[in-house]
Amino acid sequence: MFSTNSSAYKLFNENNLDFMKRLPDSSIDLILTDPPYNLSQFSRGNIHLNNGKTINNKIAEWDSIPLNPNDYIEPFTRIIKPTGNIFIFTSYSLLGKWYDAFNPLFSTFQIFVWHKTTPTQSVYHNSFLNSCELVVCLWNKGHTWNFSSQDQMHNFFECPSCMFPEKIISPKHPTQKPLELIEHLLLISSNPNDIIFDPFMGVGTTGEAALKNNRRFIGIDIDEKYVKASLKRLSIY
Ligand SMILES: C[S@@+](CC[C@H](N)C(=O)[O-])C[C@H]1O[C@@H](n2cnc3c(N)ncnc32)[C@H](O)[C@@H]1O
Repeated sequence: MFSTNSSAYKLFNENNLDFMKRLPDSSIDLILTDPPYNLSQFSRGNIHLNNGKTINNKIAEWDSIPLNPNDYIEPFTRIIKPTGNIFIFTSYSLLGKWYDAFNPLFSTFQIFVWHKTTPTQSVYHNSFLNSCELVVCLWNKGHTWNFSSQDQMHNFFECPSCMFPEKIISPKHPTQKPLELIEHLLLISSNPNDIIFDPFMGVGTTGEAALKNNRRFIGIDIDEKYVKASLKRLSIY
């Protein structure tokens, strides 16, 4: 399996459940991650548009493999420090499962909303645009929390989806997150030199936010092409 490391970051091409067995207890300051959403099961297949084009709302192959939040209870609660925070992007279809799995285990379970100012347009014009993404936020009393004004602390953040030139062209990742959103979450919830962990790294957005702000980073992705893209992206730091 492909893996690489420098003093500031370590990247691994592996199933995160296998990898986390090797992480020591209470070793991570912040888990900031964007797992599969289990939405591909609702894909309606190819939709033919009036202009002759075809679109398909299946996100990616990795979203077709069902994700069970219960599998993450043991590793996440074991590796996070008592002062740590956990942020997990999710979908409406998995939110209840994350709640059932993690709400009993943390003193706080809150929802943060990212409002995309550039949502995908609706094909049939008969529903809301999917312009909001949800983030599960978990912590215990005494957790790290940095802000200078309550204005920074709305559980709502607005910015466009990730676009060129930030968007990695090859290999394109269908759900690459915008850096400003990830940096916002990271800065309010961690300190310089902290260890930030993203077990569903994609093309390394959490890693870039960490290194740019003098944190250390551990990233895992099961797909080798995304680990290679993350390595290229992070090697400038
Ligand atoms: C929603 S994407 C993350 C995108 C990322 N936030 C970014 O900005 O690039 C989820 C990623 O998790 C990876 N993945 C899915 N299951 C995994 C597993 N069991 N272990 C490690 N990576 C996994 C997929 O390959 C995919 O790249």
